[in-house]
Amino acid sequence: MSPMETFDAIRARRNVRAYTDRPIPPEHLDRILEAGRRAPSSMNDQAWDFVVVTERDRLRELSRVWRYAGHVADSAATIALVLPVVVDRDERDIRWFDLGQAAMAMMLAAADLGVGSSHAAVGDQDLARALLGLPEDRECAMLLALGYPAGRPLRPIEEPDRRPLDRVVHRERW
Ligand SMILES: Cc1cc2nc3c(=O)[nH]c(=O)nc-3n(C[C@H](O)[C@H](O)[C@H](O)COP(=O)(O)O)c2cc1C
Repeated sequence: MSPMETFDAIRARRNVRAYTDRPIPPEHLDRILEAGRRAPSSMNDQAWDFVVVTERDRLRELSRVWRYAGHVADSAATIALVLPVVVDRDERDIRWFDLGQAAMAMMLAAADLGVGSSHAAVGDQDLARALLGLPEDRECAMLLALGYPAGRPLRPIEEPDRRPLDRVVHRERW
């Protein structure tokens, strides 16, 4: 499959929560991770770490960290997005903003390769930390499940479930 145009990848990305059994080639998984590594961050701090999980048993366990993380169990790979435990609210906001950009970069790189992706939040932080072997000063902020879509493949979505552009965008002033 030839790579998509950037704007096509942006329009094709959607949360994919059902996957085929097909594994993601290691070089494609690395490319997705590389997209995250290259993301911008405040002061170029790059406070994130990524833990890649592909072992089925671990994926199944990991899917129990949150009631809406069930799709992680069947994913070809899941990337745990890890942040330092930060108490200061401003710093925390910045870290999450940075991580959000890294997550989106990875999701678009995945879409470009025809790989579906889905977020999953983390409810049981202790379980996530134990399964991933995280140090005490780190937490798992989010999971990014990856796999080839079991249903319709990734194609640009003509009518996304989004607020209309003219309601979202304010020109010059609100
Ligand atoms: C911060 C964040 C947390 C999310 N958590 C979950 C989750 O725990 N489980 C899930 O299935 N989807 C989760 N999602 C996916 C959203 O529900 C999804 O992005 C949204 O409904 C828009 O759909 P789309 O991504 O298909 O365009 C999360 C998304 C974000 C940005």
